[in-house]
Amino acid sequence: MTLKVNGPQSEVQPTMWGIFFEDINFSADGGIYAELVKNRSFEFTEPMMGWKEVKKEGTGNVLIVNRESGHDANPRYAHITVDAAKGSYGLFNEGFRGMGFKKETLYNFSILARSTGGQLVGKLLLLDDKGVVIGQTTLPAVGKEWKQYTATVKTDRTVAKGGIQLLFAGNGALDIDMVSLFPQDTWKQRPGGLRNDLVQLLADLHPGFVRFPGGCIVEGRDLANRYQWKKTVGKVEDRTLIVNRWNTEFAHRAPGDYFQSYGLGFYEYFQLSEDIGAAPLPIINCGMACQFNTGEVAADEDVAVYIQDALDLIEFANGSTATKWGGLRAEMGHPAPFNLRHLGVGNEQWDSQYVARYQRFEEVLKAKHPEIKLVSSVGPFSSGERFDYLWSKLKPSKADLVDEHYYMPPEWFLKNADRYDNYERKGPKIFSGEYAAHVKTPKGQKETDTAEGRNTWESALAEAAFMTGLERNADIVQMASYAPLLAHVDAWQWRPDLIWFDNLRSVGTPNYYVQRLFSNNKGTHTIPVTSDGQPLTGQEGIYASATIDKAEHRILLKVVNATDRAVTYKVALEGAVTAKGAAKQTVLTAKNKTDFNTLEAPSVVVPEEQIITPGKNNVSVSVKANSLNIIQVPYK
Ligand code: AHR
Repeated sequence: MTLKVNGPQSEVQPTMWGIFFEDINFSADGGIYAELVKNRSFEFTEPMMGWKEVKKEGTGNVLIVNRESGHDANPRYAHITVDAAKGSYGLFNEGFRGMGFKKETLYNFSILARSTGGQLVGKLLLLDDKGVVIGQTTLPAVGKEWKQYTATVKTDRTVAKGGIQLLFAGNGALDIDMVSLFPQDTWKQRPGGLRNDLVQLLADLHPGFVRFPGGCIVEGRDLANRYQWKKTVGKVEDRTLIVNRWNTEFAHRAPGDYFQSYGLGFYEYFQLSEDIGAAPLPIINCGMACQFNTGEVAADEDVAVYIQDALDLIEFANGSTATKWGGLRAEMGHPAPFNLRHLGVGNEQWDSQYVARYQRFEEVLKAKHPEIKLVSSVGPFSSGERFDYLWSKLKPSKADLVDEHYYMPPEWFLKNADRYDNYERKGPKIFSGEYAAHVKTPKGQKETDTAEGRNTWESALAEAAFMTGLERNADIVQMASYAPLLAHVDAWQWRPDLIWFDNLRSVGTPNYYVQRLFSNNKGTHTIPVTSDGQPLTGQEGIYASATIDKAEHRILLKVVNATDRAVTYKVALEGAVTAKGAAKQTVLTAKNKTDFNTLEAPSVVVPEEQIITPGKNNVSVSVKANSLNIIQVPYK
């Protein structure tokens, strides 16, 4: 094997390896958004979903009141009447598949409330799965005007699937809304913030970009339920909840209770991107709903509204604080611009109509915002002719990047590591915006019940092989992201996924570690790596790519061995010699190709590092069977 440090180089974009965030599999509500109360604003289609009455000797009742005018975003609240001179009456909330509580941890409770008569004493109880109290506090007395009240409560035990009770003693009535409970310890300690462990896993990827908010949820089942970013910013109580597009389709473990509260909205997505050093890449609806569902499209004359949404989004992200939307960003706590540089138009729109729509966006956006790179889309590779048709139309466009999706079997990834070697170099660059190797349950075998069970080492290894091809072609492939990103083990609709979690724990899959190794060894420029003068694209099951980091003077060689035998290579360096400093090999492998990580056994497939000692102008690399290897060598 030869590494040509003096060979032709192309720049690796800082955006090369990123993440794709979609609110699927309870990724947002019930996931990274740390809110524990389900249906906190009583706005689910069935307003009491997630809630139950609790009568502890006292009596009472609850009515859901709908303010039909003047409160479009959050029309409902609960009116509670209590008759409990003895005992109490109140409500229980079950959380999203229960509530996870950690031992001796503080939780912040808040509620919008007003008293409508009498005098009540309120209490908040944190319960385990059997109803035993693990923490409690008395709530502040409620006045006559709507106001937010807060309280803090501490737990005495760890519980994976608990709940809360809100109990009132005395005689009287009150109205409540936005009943909320968050752990105090959120990411960056932000009140109403994100789950620490999940954000940390994302931060550890050092992603070059965050694509958000999807996926099919950008499109919606119909246009009324599309993702409208303007309804996701401002005060949380003023954000309009909608049913999640993943609520019923593939309804595995989301039987009708999957909604988007938008507590994680566009401001928070921009903030998350900034926090983890990633470029934000929002995707906006182009006036077309999901073709898997209604395929509804906006009337031609209404497309201007969608284009205006895009322009306003740029103003929200980058505009001066004197502008309407830039001003809102400042009001929300971020006067500095978010430095938006990429914008996606449409997700997986495969009708011919998409091209005409896209062109209308392009015309306006390129004229008004030449600084923004536009991402167009050709949808899923598996759609065959439609994919090719869209490409033929988009090639001559001014799109900066075209988004390709492939959910294919591992064999496809192994065979397609050279996919971009001879791709058209003129025209748009490539964004591999959604990909994952999907293993099938072998014939005669029972489908695995373990949620994480599809994230096998076989799938991850195939992706690693394919990613060497993405890296080798970094001149044209400028962004890539695995999909989907997050999944709750008790509430998923799609698998495999990159990271699994429950109410308390999270685990990186083998696929996660593949992403992490490539992203953390990105380098700044590609260099050729060859065997017998040819790039290694799977000949005899070996795949390789290499970059150098010019700032750190490191060679970063990636070798994937997709065979069942170990191999040793003498890798010759051309155009550079090795320098003093730590050289190391990181190996990711598993005993069996069917191995996977679970919440219970998170370290079955994890990277291991070893120090290596290179020669002056060569390095000897031993490569285990079925392994991904990252070899880091300092050079001068
Ligand atoms: O990642 C899951 C789904 O796959 C996305 O929502 C969609 O873009 C694709 O079909």
